[in-house]
This record gives sequence, structure tokens and C-alpha cells, in this order.
Amino acid sequence: MCGIVGYIGQNDAKEILLKGLEKLEYRGYDSAGIAVANEEGVHVFKEKGRIAELREVVDANVASSAGIGHTRWATHGVPSHLNAHPHQSASGRFTLVHNGVIENYVQLTREYLQDVTLKSDTDTEVVVQVIEQFVSRGLDTEEAFRQTLLQLKGSYAIALFDNENKETIYVAKNKSPLLVGFGEDFNVVASDAMAMLQVTNEYAELMDKEMVIVTKDEVIIKNLDGDIMTRPSYIAELDASDIEKGTYPHYMLKETDEQPLVMRKIIQEYQDENGKLSVAGDIASAVAEADRIYIVACGTSYHAGLVGKQYIEDWAKVPVEVHVASEFSYNMPLLSKKPLFIFLSQSGETADSRAVLVQVKELGHKALTITNVPGSTLSREADFTLLLHAGPEIAVASTKAYTAQIAVLAILASVAAELNGQSLDFDLVKELGIVANAMEALVDQKDEMEQIARDFFTVTRNAFFIGRGLDYYVCLEGSLKLKEISYIQAEGFAGGELKHGTIALIEEGTPVIALATQEHVNLSIRGNVKEVVARGANPCVISLKGLEDEGDRFVLPAVHPALAPLASVVPLQLIAYYAALHRGCDVDKPRNLAKSVTVE
Ligand code: G6P
Repeated sequence: MCGIVGYIGQNDAKEILLKGLEKLEYRGYDSAGIAVANEEGVHVFKEKGRIAELREVVDANVASSAGIGHTRWATHGVPSHLNAHPHQSASGRFTLVHNGVIENYVQLTREYLQDVTLKSDTDTEVVVQVIEQFVSRGLDTEEAFRQTLLQLKGSYAIALFDNENKETIYVAKNKSPLLVGFGEDFNVVASDAMAMLQVTNEYAELMDKEMVIVTKDEVIIKNLDGDIMTRPSYIAELDASDIEKGTYPHYMLKETDEQPLVMRKIIQEYQDENGKLSVAGDIASAVAEADRIYIVACGTSYHAGLVGKQYIEDWAKVPVEVHVASEFSYNMPLLSKKPLFIFLSQSGETADSRAVLVQVKELGHKALTITNVPGSTLSREADFTLLLHAGPEIAVASTKAYTAQIAVLAILASVAAELNGQSLDFDLVKELGIVANAMEALVDQKDEMEQIARDFFTVTRNAFFIGRGLDYYVCLEGSLKLKEISYIQAEGFAGGELKHGTIALIEEGTPVIALATQEHVNLSIRGNVKEVVARGANPCVISLKGLEDEGDRFVLPAVHPALAPLASVVPLQLIAYYAALHRGCDVDKPRNLAKSVTVE
């Protein structure tokens, strides 16, 4: 969701900004723009749509070694040329890009901009106009920027350019992510490390309510009182090739294929020198000793949390509640006496989850973040972190992060179980290895998945996914995958619940995908399949080897039933992929969606 890149140095800023923005495309956006500065002034190019369209309007003849760029995911004002960033002040002196939401932009307009005609519908333009107002009252740019930041309520990552001082980019951050990267004779800023890898892998994180003065030779970080802050730098452990598609047509396909590798990596990362599963520090005891665990997450991560609940309750015998972050923060349930909060987030930046983290930290509770991104906001602000080790996930539709979350939750639950004197009646390391092999076999059966997608999803407008127990949770994820990338209206249902109302929607030919991987509910789910077939549904049963029945469309390789979600989700991901592909959808960048949702 929205991305920022800024560069100041000696090379062609245009290309660095455009390439950086391309690396941020995965976050989701609907317009983009850049501003570059040279002796003639600041040149702004922006366009509704993709970076490829922006490239077409950028004047190749404009030479520049400094600039700022932005991808916008519309919040205030429709996606349009006018609302795209960068925005400029009335005189044209100041140019600014912004991620986040300025909650008090209406009050700011009333207080400072009575005499200014705003050109766009955005909250962002208000910020750049207020800066100019402060300058017109006699403040220098840095002080005007600081005074403006002190007025802002809400979330922001901002990069500002002053036409009268083209040697400097002014940057600030609150809640929205922003990093500053270091180089020889240049410096950069970007929403994430991937956008800077083309020029540097050394970066520092900015904290909330900090501003930064960036020139090609220097980076000065200050708090909003004007005090200079020191900050260690990190080397991004990312390889530029990790974020390339290679020979794959889409990131989603690449990331789906990477799942067996990720499983093996997780087994390796979470094993001690004796080959025993272990998690760092006192994390397992925090789980084992909690009187109740609250898993808080959004989207796909929420679905992984549901599976994790089952592991922690079944194995470690600790009660677990799983909550959608955006609801929890406004409707907090009664908490137990000794809760532990687990935040599940691929990106570690999701604003809804972070809002809950801030609340529970204020209440003095302990929090563990399970994330794919070391150093992300949710990781920094929690007491503990467990990493997913899935490698960068670029496609908006999450695949390998989901299975990684389930595997890490299984490992955490098993270690906590041991601390609680409970022992698993199977060898989790061995069974996760079997899952990795099963995943490998599954991703090799793409033709089969493509055929299912053709048979069931070429013309349909809607679809249902049914399952019981763990299968139900996977159905929620399978239906989310299908709807987010193919735009087919799809619902995941507990097998027994469909008949309590929604079965009214089943018509002749309605696709119903049923999962049957759990022996104790196998007969019941097959009964539910019969109910929908009797009403005309077109069933596609995916069962686990050993539970298969005549007429099942696909049989999954044998894996331990508790780990079946790790296998059964793979065909659902691939079916969604091919359904989207055949319907001509933009698989990696589905409409209206963002990968990293940094506004509440
Ligand atoms: C967005 C993405 C989803 C993702 C959710 C949670 O809505 O489109 O794919 O599952 O955010 O993201 P997180 O990074 O917190 O796991």
C-alpha cells in the first residue's frame, strides 16, 4: 500500500526512482509519480495506472540526480492524475509525497489554508500547502517542516523537496514504514529495503515522529524536538535475485513453488544442534505459561492463526482465541489474567494489527510477533519475534507466508507442549519433512490444477468451499485466494453450516470445492457434499490419501492429518492462480488490493 522512494546523489535519479517504484509495485497501488530536480526546477511526472504507464510520460531528456517518487493506493480521492503524488504547494516551491492518512486534514485546511485553492482531493496536498504557509511566515524549510509535522494527526511517511534547496530531501515518519539507505556519494529513502537493493543494501530504520535531513553526503536524523538521534545501520540480508521473478510468469507461481523449500528452511532454522525443535529465548515458556493466548491478525494471516489455535490448544493445552485485528482494536474482549498476544503478519507492517499491539502494550501485556520481515514495526514493538524464513513474498495473494506461519505455529505449539508436560504422539520434524515432499509433488501437478480451474471456474460467478475442522480453516483461505485474484465471489463454509441459509444460493452447476482430510469428520463432510449435489452443485472433492472415495477429483499425498492444511492449501492456491490467469486477471497485482496495508 503506497510506496515512497527518494534518491539524492550523482546518477540518473529518474531511472533509480522508477526502478525503486517497480520494486514497490507488489504493495498495491493505482497511480504513481516522480519529481526530479535540476537547475531548471522541479519536474513532476505522474499518471493513473501502472509504473509502465508512468514511464511513458516521463521525459527522458530531463537530467537529474535527485528526486522523490510514489505509488499511491487511493484513500482520500479517487485514483486519478490529479490525486496522484507528488503534490506541490501553491507557488510550486515545495513538492511532496506521502503514505498514510492525515486524520486532521480538514481542521488543518480550516486553520491554515483559507486562502489557498486546493487542486486535489487528497489529505496529502494539505501537508505541502501548510509547509508553504509556515515558510511564508518566515520559517526556514526545516523548521516549517518540523512545525507542520507537529500539527499532523494520523500516519505518515513523507518525502519533501524544496525547489530553492535542491541538495536536500526532507523526510519524516509516523506509523507508516520508511527506511533510509546509505551509499558512497548518494543516499536513498524507501518504504522497504527491496526498493533500495539496486543501489545499496545498507540501511537504517526510522522511528515514529522522526524527521531526517538527507543530502548526498549526509543523513541527519532528528526527533521532533530537533534533537539529533543516532541510529545503527543494518545490512539487508536480501539478495536482489530473491525479488526477481526469474523464468516464472508471475510471482505467485514462483512463491507457490517455493513452499517445499520454505518448509525445509523452517525445519532447519528451528532445530537445535541435536536436531530437536526449539524456539529462541523464553518464547515457548511465555506460551506455555499464559492462561490464554490471543492471536491477532488480518486476511491470510488470520486464517493461518485459526490453524495455529488448534495446535496450541490440542498440543500445549493452552486456550486460544483468534481475532481479526480491525475488530479487536475497537471491540476488545474481556481479557484473561495472564494473556499472551501473538501477532501474525507476513509484512509486520499491517496498521490494523499494529493498532492492537499498541493497545495491549499500554495495558502491560506481553506480545510475540510472528513475521516474515525482520526489523518490521510489529517485530520491533513486540517483546518477542519469531521469523517465518519464507524469503520475500511479492505477489499480493499470500501463499508461502501462509504455510510458513502454520509451520512456525506448529513448532511453537510443540515446544510449548513439551514444557507443559504434554508430548506429541508423532515426530513433528519427520512429518514436516513429509509435508515438504508432498508439497513438491503437488506443485509438480500443475496441469491437473489448471484443468480443475478450467472445468470449474471458466464461466462461474460464484463458488463455495466447504470443510470441517482444520479443513474449514483451509476453505476460508482457499476461497480468499480465489476471490482476491480471480474476482469470483467465493465463500468458505463450515460443512455443516451451509445448510443453515446459504445453501439457498446453490444452483445448477454452482462449483463447490470440498476438503476431506480429517478422518473424524469424513463421513459428515461427504454428507454435506451430497446435500449440495442434490441441489445441482458441481462438486470438486479434494481428499487425503487413505480417505479417498470414488469420484474424488484430486487425492492429496499422505501427510499427518494435523498438518494436512499445509498440503491441502497448495491445490487451492494453484486452482485460484489458473482461474485468475484464464479469466485474464492481473494475478500478482489484483485490483483494489494492497500487499501491505499500512492504513487502518
Ligand atoms: C492485506 C493483503 C493480504 C494479507 C493481509 C495481512 O490485506 O492483501 O494478503 O493477508 O493484508 O497482511 P500481513 O502482512 O499482516 O500478514
